Amino acid sequence: MYIKSEIEKNLIDKNIRLEILEETTSTNDYIKKFSNLDSAVVIAKKQTLGRGRLNRAFYSPENKGIYLSILVKPQLETKDSVKITTFTAVAVANAIEKVSGLKTQIKWVNDIFIGGKKVCGILAEASQNFKEGKLNYAVIGIGINLYGKDFPSDIKNIATSIELESGKKIDANLLVVEIINSLYKINDDISGDYLTKYKEKCFILNREIIVDTGKEKYKATALNVLDNGALLVEKEGKTFELDFGDVSVRI
Ligand code: BTN
Repeated sequence: MYIKSEIEKNLIDKNIRLEILEETTSTNDYIKKFSNLDSAVVIAKKQTLGRGRLNRAFYSPENKGIYLSILVKPQLETKDSVKITTFTAVAVANAIEKVSGLKTQIKWVNDIFIGGKKVCGILAEASQNFKEGKLNYAVIGIGINLYGKDFPSDIKNIATSIELESGKKIDANLLVVEIINSLYKINDDISGDYLTKYKEKCFILNREIIVDTGKEKYKATALNVLDNGALLVEKEGKTFELDFGDVSVRI
């Protein structure tokens, strides 16, 4: 599925440490051993403990998806760390569109959808320097359902793959290169206009949503995505910012 030399040849930054593993628990955990480096990328053909936000498992069967973690050193204050997820969502959505020709949408905050179903999830984890209020490093974990038509029964109705939507077997090396090259522009591009693109793709805006914070569940209306990545919602006439939790929409 992966050809290391092919990926390396096409990376803009030739100093990136790249490892491709047959199997690991979670690439987000494995990559932490490279946190002293400026850049590192870990790709696994299979994860035995792939995880998503809110402690959910991420289905990671062998050679069916891209399970990728990227170590970055973003020049961001801790309070802005959600921006890493929103920035990544736009970069990955663009990369998928470029290699597959499919139209993608984003569900706040970290999911990429095609044809109304989830095709990719993002799990960004940051190590904070509490004293300075800055980030030491961040690990951006990206899981993309690339091939395959069968999903376990619990996600069958909500998940899809690029192959299923396009009828094509996309080259994983191409997609991985696109994603890595765009994410290593984070320090130049995060001050730019990616948020406009994020909002254009975010299909929950101006719709009634169900918010699940893990502690409570309620109905609200999604109004906007703010500069800091938070979702502005309205509930019973009151407007407030949501910075974590899961949202869903009724179809
Ligand atoms: C989500 O759906 O909430 C996020 C899923 C993130 C999955 C990726 S796969 C590579 C990296 N390693 C993990 O254990 N998770 C992320």
